[in-house]
Amino acid sequence: MSSEPRPSAFYTPLRYPGGKGKLVPFVKRILEANSLVDGAYVEPYAGGAAVALELLLQEYVRKIYINDISAGVAAFWRSVLDNTDALCAAISGASVTMDEWYRQREIQRQPDQHDDLTLGFSTFFLNRTNRSGILNAGVIGGKAQTGKWKIDARFNAADLVTRIHAIARVRERIEFHQQDALAFIDEIAPKLPSKSLLYLDPPYYVKGSDLYLHHYQHDDHLKIAKRIARLRTKNWIVSYDNAPEIGPMYGRFRNIVYGLSYSAQDRYQGSEIMFFSDGLVIPDTVRPMHLVA
Ligand SMILES: C[S@@+](CC[C@H](N)C(=O)[O-])C[C@H]1O[C@@H](n2cnc3c(N)ncnc32)[C@H](O)[C@@H]1O
Repeated sequence: MSSEPRPSAFYTPLRYPGGKGKLVPFVKRILEANSLVDGAYVEPYAGGAAVALELLLQEYVRKIYINDISAGVAAFWRSVLDNTDALCAAISGASVTMDEWYRQREIQRQPDQHDDLTLGFSTFFLNRTNRSGILNAGVIGGKAQTGKWKIDARFNAADLVTRIHAIARVRERIEFHQQDALAFIDEIAPKLPSKSLLYLDPPYYVKGSDLYLHHYQHDDHLKIAKRIARLRTKNWIVSYDNAPEIGPMYGRFRNIVYGLSYSAQDRYQGSEIMFFSDGLVIPDTVRPMHLVA
């Protein structure tokens, strides 16, 4: 029997558009090559936090600091950490039907009218029942439920509850924030030990507005690039879609271009780009998926 750790898909309960679980082996090698194992790990744009959770639950890092500005995502993570049993009871007892889908979608229309548990469960419910986990996309199988896959195709309550309990068990080692990434970085950076890695995965430059409720304009991307260049910690990585506008923002930093999906076009053109802080040792043993250049 193989004792390979389980793939990252098994740690985060959220499906995430642009989720970076496939990068975990590469991030592990970065931690090792830079003697950062057992240190702190920071994600200002956490989303489903696939990388952070796998690193924590496999004991590569001691503590994770995760942040996301989205009200729904934040309500979900706070419920996981602070109201675990109630969230799990809601998931186990959920009727995964179109009536429920309409009810949960209604909750998203006025996020500030609801408590964390209600909004967090709604976010989770739609994440697991919508196509590709996109909050404002359609339901799996269509509203008439005539598709090959039905609304409950990705809603395995028992498995999802197990993942949530596994995360909640290590809650003392997880610090969740709901701030604008710039404010979060300003707050957290001075407190970090020298043994820290920051991984920034901002909303995609091109498709950000289709995928996330919160996305960036050109100047926001530029502002964050300037802030990162001023970071005192020498250990950071940034990943993006490989849009021509992004390269110049990080011009003086080393980068690699790679693809995360298996499609032939992606493999040859490279749809993603990653930038590295000056001091960071880039391991050459394992590369992100399908290195292009
Ligand atoms: C590319 S996704 C991150 C995906 C994540 N790496 C994963 O594997 O699931 C970008 C995330 O940034 C969040 N976001 C957008 N604007 C933000 C801002 N100004 N500050 C903090 N988070 C923001 C979005 O809500 C979204 O969850």
